[in-house]
Amino acid sequence: MERELRRGELLICRDAEELALRAAMCFVELAEEFIARNGRFCVALSGGSTPRGLYARLASPPFRERVIWSKVHLFWGDERCVPPDHPESNYGMVERELLTKVPIPPANVHRMPGEKDPEEAAVEYAHTLRTFFGLAACELPAFDLVLLGLGEDGHTASLFPGTDVLHERTEMVRAVSVEKLGVSRLTLTAAVFNHAANVIFLVSGERKAAVLREVLLGEEQPDRLPAQLIAPTRGQLLWIVDRDAAREIVR
Ligand code: 6PG
Repeated sequence: MERELRRGELLICRDAEELALRAAMCFVELAEEFIARNGRFCVALSGGSTPRGLYARLASPPFRERVIWSKVHLFWGDERCVPPDHPESNYGMVERELLTKVPIPPANVHRMPGEKDPEEAAVEYAHTLRTFFGLAACELPAFDLVLLGLGEDGHTASLFPGTDVLHERTEMVRAVSVEKLGVSRLTLTAAVFNHAANVIFLVSGERKAAVLREVLLGEEQPDRLPAQLIAPTRGQLLWIVDRDAAREIVR
């Protein structure tokens, strides 16, 4: 079921399994579109647990064979400040679910250096983006697809409520100290996400029902609900959610 929203479109899936399937179909269709148009497909991946099912689907037939992996470039929307082999690493999760199972050239995998000093890592990743996309000083990278999740507190990527990164207007990448979690993270900024051609949120489970309703139907309070910052300036926004997560939207 699809519904028009003030921010993007909503696709409600039966369960997490169908969510992963529909997300994989979107990924493959966009890959075919952008590879045909530009010769490459540039994606900023989400961390967390929800996208794990999508990555596993992409690593399996028929999707594995449909994607021209040599033309796909993978980036990360955010990363925990841990080494890539740490259980909490977003890169490590994608490596286990996808990278070890598809023929993507290592040079096409642009991970955030979570093992480094956070401030230095943010500067380094901004340089990676500037170099790869050939950006002028104040230009933003235009990802073909950004994948995002939604935290129960309304955060997305590592844009957490009440943090100053929410108001970042110039930097593409920021190191953030998430006091309530006692961790440091790296995150792309809202301006980068909003410059993408396609943004897809993946939201699953009844624990997300209340926050999803607030984000999509509640009043605009982006400091409290940072996911509300995501409104692509020219791109498409799609929410792929399961019925459990949508239970407070469609009664
Ligand atoms: C991360 C993600 C984060 C995640 C949400 C939802 O690094 O964890 O960037 O924003 O998408 O916290 O996480 P789940 O999918 O595990 O519910």
